[in-house]
Amino acid sequence: MLPEMTQGDDGGNAPPTRDRRPTDRVALSADLRAALPDASAAVLVTAAVFAFLYARMESGDSATVAVMPFMDDPGTYWMYLLSQAFGWSGLLWAWGTVMLGLLLSGPRPARLPVSRQVLERWHRTTSLTTMALMFAHALMFAAELVRYEAQLAWAERLWAGFADTFVPGWYDSGTGRIAIPLGQGALYLAVPLGLLFYVRHRIGANTWRRLHRFVIVVYVLSVWHTLLYGTNVWYGEWPRTVLWLLQLPVALLLLLRLLRPARRSERLGPLQRREGVSLPGWAARAAGRAAAGAVVVGLLIVVMSGHDGGRDRPAEPPSTSPHAHEPE
Ligand code: HEM
Repeated sequence: MLPEMTQGDDGGNAPPTRDRRPTDRVALSADLRAALPDASAAVLVTAAVFAFLYARMESGDSATVAVMPFMDDPGTYWMYLLSQAFGWSGLLWAWGTVMLGLLLSGPRPARLPVSRQVLERWHRTTSLTTMALMFAHALMFAAELVRYEAQLAWAERLWAGFADTFVPGWYDSGTGRIAIPLGQGALYLAVPLGLLFYVRHRIGANTWRRLHRFVIVVYVLSVWHTLLYGTNVWYGEWPRTVLWLLQLPVALLLLLRLLRPARRSERLGPLQRREGVSLPGWAARAAGRAAAGAVVVGLLIVVMSGHDGGRDRPAEPPSTSPHAHEPE
């Protein structure tokens, strides 16, 4: 979620260097300060989503209540709604920062509305904001669990909320047995893969760059987690279609980035002409490009066919829920 290249990077034409001069280093503290405006925007977006979800719950239109009828009380379940709102702003920011990263590492657009340095800075600050939003989403879910377990002693309540939210494999009910570890995987990978950028002078720019590529996994896990578990996209209705549609530009940019990477050394020429490229390495790169192409085609099929994994909204409220929340 942090940039492929930053101020001073050359786009791949200079020989690989282990380090940059200290003056080229970007400090985490400076980026945290620079992230304040977009973090504030993220708070506003979260507040708007929260108000929207709250109003829908009050009006009886909430898909969450359709899935879990016991939640029909926004005043009681406001922390759950806030967790959902942080989940959506987190996903939106993740989408934005991934798009910026792919723009920076793929083919150079002929014209950009802002300078490359500005795009790079936005990529770094939005990725910091994304991590904070993901964490806030999980934290509000934990807070709701703590509130809910009122029959337990305080230490047990805190432990239950913490373990169900943050300990992989602990949550043992329904779809959450798979969906929660997917979300945890995204959160736990996002932090090191994002923050390693700030110590790349220690680990080496090449090592950092190799590791940073895996940040796309964070995004895929986040979307997968949402499609599997988000009750507001539970039914095969427009919000789920929009979520699928939003993945199309990401997949297209990823395909372009793989086909025409900014760094020359990453380009996939004919095998025999590339010195120092092994057959397995070349095959892996070619397979990556083919997989990205297949994802684009797959997304188009999903969106056009309407087979998007959404359930039909039942006429009667369901007797079981995907969460462990149902009162005894
Ligand atoms: C420790 C990690 C995580 C936990 C425990 C967790 C927990 C949950 C839970 C319980 C739900 C279901 C809410 C509902 O009823 O709709 C949910 C949905 C969701 N999660 Fe996560 N999540 C985690 C990580 C993530 C990450 C990394 C993202 C990416 C930004 C994310 C984004 C979302 C979104 C967008 C929804 C849909 C909310 C809705 O339908 O309104 N989650 N998550």
